[in-house]
Amino acid sequence: MLMTDLLAKKRDGGELSGEEIRFMIDGYVRGEIADYQMSAMCMAILLRGMNDRETLDLTMAMMHSGEVVDLSGIEGIKADKHSTGGVGDKTSLMLCPMVAACGLRIAKMSGRGLGHTGGTLDKLESFPGYNIAIGERRFIENVNRIGIALIGQTADIVPADKKLYALRDVTGTVPSIPLIVSSIMSKKLASGADVIVLDVKCGSGAFMKTEEQARELARGLTRIGKLAGRKCAAVITDMDQPLGRAVGNALEVKEAISVLRGETKGDLLELCLTLGSCILTEAGVAADREEARAMLRATIESGAALKKLSELVEAQDGDARDVYDTARLPVAPVQLTVPSETAGYLSHMDCEKVGLISMHLGGGRVTKESEIDLSVGLVLDKKVGDRVEKGESLGTIHASTEEKAREAAELLRACCTFSDTPVARPKFIKEIIE
Ligand code: URA
Repeated sequence: MLMTDLLAKKRDGGELSGEEIRFMIDGYVRGEIADYQMSAMCMAILLRGMNDRETLDLTMAMMHSGEVVDLSGIEGIKADKHSTGGVGDKTSLMLCPMVAACGLRIAKMSGRGLGHTGGTLDKLESFPGYNIAIGERRFIENVNRIGIALIGQTADIVPADKKLYALRDVTGTVPSIPLIVSSIMSKKLASGADVIVLDVKCGSGAFMKTEEQARELARGLTRIGKLAGRKCAAVITDMDQPLGRAVGNALEVKEAISVLRGETKGDLLELCLTLGSCILTEAGVAADREEARAMLRATIESGAALKKLSELVEAQDGDARDVYDTARLPVAPVQLTVPSETAGYLSHMDCEKVGLISMHLGGGRVTKESEIDLSVGLVLDKKVGDRVEKGESLGTIHASTEEKAREAAELLRACCTFSDTPVARPKFIKEIIE
């Protein structure tokens, strides 16, 4: 088999066989197929597309390029969740304990933040001592004992994606649905869960800017998950403004805890109930979404979800007291409120730029190796649709220095657009795809 033949076939709109796709991925990972040939193939796929059979074969070939986690040592139904990434997205910190408190097993591998988006691992490390690398034996033991473990993705999971993603990033071939689906689903399938729920973000702070793109991606992801024999659902959610109010690692942990305490409701709680109800119904633990929502709400009312989070933190070498007393978490030395210079209705917030403010304060990574400051970020007082009077606070900046706080305050003001007439609040849950 020759890569040049496969390139010509895809260039002319042909369909690659499973054997051809495996040849290409195996050869690329082994270094036998050159980057320039693989770049041409990614562009041909972007322009010509792939059908479901090809996308599934590509996903499986990528998944088998590395370690496939064996969760057979875990009793019960294993559930996982994936978000396509956004600003202020602390959902896993609430959803995973809530679902585990309903009796499902969460054996989850998460990622770090990059650029304007945050990552669950960094947030978890706001709990001093939290160990994201407890090893496979403890990972399985913890899930069997307390129903939940959240660790970092091991280096051996889907090496093909690491190579391919880096290549796509510099060849203009990231926005191809089959390439995105195979990249995300190869990692999710390799992580071994029975039930997978996908939170596909759409809007200015997301990878998918329009609802149409998000829907196409969500449908592709669920189709491939099901074809691979997993229970799978997707929810399309708004990312035209940050999720919740806090952006920045420890600040987001505090907000997540306030949801688990029943003190904060709004979009964050709604998202957890929606994603969680998809998991519980797909798993067959609840008869329908209403019953599932009631079960999930009960984990907050009884304190079971908060207790589950404290068990998780303790089982991974943190201190459970930090969950009940959030004053123990990292705090930035400077807090600066940002008075609005305009009166009106908040009509738009540049979500990606809000994420970048947190990054510039030191809360996010510029490169994968960057050290981050867990204490910094911002907490919004206003969201799209709110009335704002002149001088009223738009939010509070948490920074390491006065100067950085002042710069961030200017940037936050620049992210906000106002209207003289009332503005409808954006629809948060746009669609559920089962
Ligand atoms: N996230 C991934 O993991 N892969 C993509 O291709 C895009 C987003």
